[in-house]
Amino acid sequence: MLKTHHCGELRAANIGQEVTLAGWVNRRRDQGGLIFIDLRDRWGVTQVAIDAQTNAEAHQAAADVRSEYVIQVRGKVRPRPAGAENPNMATGEIEVEASAIKVLNAAKTTPFEINAETKVDETVRLRYRYLDLRRSRMQRNIILRGQVTKFIRDYLYERRFLEIETPILFKTTPEGARDYLVPSRVHPGKFYALPQSPQQLKQLLMVAGYERYFQIARCFRDEDQRGDRQPEFTQLDMEMSFVERDDVMDLVEGMMIGIVEKLTDLELVYKPFRRLTHKEALERYGSDKPDLRYDLHIVDITEIAGKSAFNAFVNNAEQNKPTRAMLVPKCGHYSRKQLSDLEELAKAAGARGMAYMAIEEGEQGQIKSPIGKFFSVDQLVALTDKLEAKPGDLILIVSDASNVVSAAFDALRRHLAEQLQLADPKKIAFAWVIDFPLFEWNADEKRWDPSHHLFTSPMAEDIPLLDSEPGKVRGQQYDLVCNGYEAAGGSIRIHDRALQEKIFGLIGLDVEDAKQRFGHMLEAFEYGTPPHGGIAPGIDRLVMLLTNEPNIREVTAFPKSQQGIDLMAGAPSEVEPKQLEELHIAVVGVED
Ligand code: AMO
Repeated sequence: MLKTHHCGELRAANIGQEVTLAGWVNRRRDQGGLIFIDLRDRWGVTQVAIDAQTNAEAHQAAADVRSEYVIQVRGKVRPRPAGAENPNMATGEIEVEASAIKVLNAAKTTPFEINAETKVDETVRLRYRYLDLRRSRMQRNIILRGQVTKFIRDYLYERRFLEIETPILFKTTPEGARDYLVPSRVHPGKFYALPQSPQQLKQLLMVAGYERYFQIARCFRDEDQRGDRQPEFTQLDMEMSFVERDDVMDLVEGMMIGIVEKLTDLELVYKPFRRLTHKEALERYGSDKPDLRYDLHIVDITEIAGKSAFNAFVNNAEQNKPTRAMLVPKCGHYSRKQLSDLEELAKAAGARGMAYMAIEEGEQGQIKSPIGKFFSVDQLVALTDKLEAKPGDLILIVSDASNVVSAAFDALRRHLAEQLQLADPKKIAFAWVIDFPLFEWNADEKRWDPSHHLFTSPMAEDIPLLDSEPGKVRGQQYDLVCNGYEAAGGSIRIHDRALQEKIFGLIGLDVEDAKQRFGHMLEAFEYGTPPHGGIAPGIDRLVMLLTNEPNIREVTAFPKSQQGIDLMAGAPSEVEPKQLEELHIAVVGVED
């Protein structure tokens, strides 16, 4: 070993010891006869003192080193002089008096500072990711990520799970995105698809009798990029046999609580986690992945609004379209401009408009609202009572089709929470969303699409509705949501060939198509398939939420840019014509 100790290790108890350290020059301060070097490695920083009088050779070497040089230091641990201790540093009681300094590798001036939390353009950070990863914020995130996967492995092994690898070169495993394809050289014209998840394979492992499987699995999805998405990402993929919904949810809940409590300082808002039905989540929070660190809930006021003299509300009530309201505490003073900005947000989300009522400060609590005159005093009292509104509060109202009202309030809720800084970064709020509809109507293609994936089982009591009212069938799906993101999705699966074929039919796959794409699943279901279910938390998203980072690139060692490019290595890139030829591929229609 080139070092006896790491740079976060030495304490007063080590005083007098001869040690060898190695790492990066975090900072160098030249005080003439005395040079100080803060030496850094993964574990911390140790101050090294090099005195020209006692050690001229080491002093000369230290005079030549610069930031980010990799050096080896030999010396003796000594207490820092009285008054020079640094209580903010783990190694702040001591310093190493260097007797020898050896440069192991010099460093050019880095394109950005490593030892300061300065803001650096992301393209530069990604171009020099190996330098960016040296910075303390990235180091904290990457180290926590490792601790999270270690915790998960320990937790699952303690519960008799087995880690099994599944292939990356496979056949299409749809999860709603496009596939990444890999051409086969030896089978001209044929392609592997990279798995969007190991969904089918984990189900086949249940058919194979493994009962409790997990894998820290890389998944590949060619879809629109967002802050919480990467083309390749990591799931904790799990599957269990002979379980029901609550078994899977309880297991994952225990794991998440353990991760938060053992590895972070965050406060869990809900323990046990809150449970919402899909319908409740949409109606009360406008979203199937609501941020529950703050309240801002939505209340149905159709009954009151439908009896007012305001035509739009009355007409909508007659057409079974709801009117809902959200209380925004202490925002009754909002200016006309602020209110019209809110209305623009609601409109951008699809609503035709947004009404408001501001309750004036003072005992009387007069209501200021362009639509106030359409409500009787009793109706206004009923409305403010229902919302528990107080003087100084603001009420926002949207009336439209249920999904439009939800979308508008989702946008308003997220925007207001950000503006009013309602989400406490020290808190983390998990909730389960259950009872999803099994299908969503795809108006463009005029067919039902699975709202989770093809293999999710309908609720047993809803199976009779499959033929008559597929839109009313609920799936045995459960999503774990956290701080406004979907952190995990899972379900109890279909394990019966006839039911699986029926679902394929409903989503428009004809028998031949279904056989061609998923014949291996249908066949497997005929050889003794246990009831089974599972879930897949997204590791990247989870670590993003645990670290309060704004996107998953900050918790991924080598992420793609938002354009799907690896800016460091330059991928994707063109390949040699010979390679294409071997793969029987021609690139057409590409402009230079
Ligand atoms: P689903 O598609 O809901 O379910 O994905 C599960 C979790 O994976 C994460 N995730 C992503 N993270 C980063 N980038 C992406 N592009 C991305 N897409 C998804 C999310 C999400 O909640 N096979 C099923 C799971 C199952 O039913 O067991 C599946 O993949 O955190």
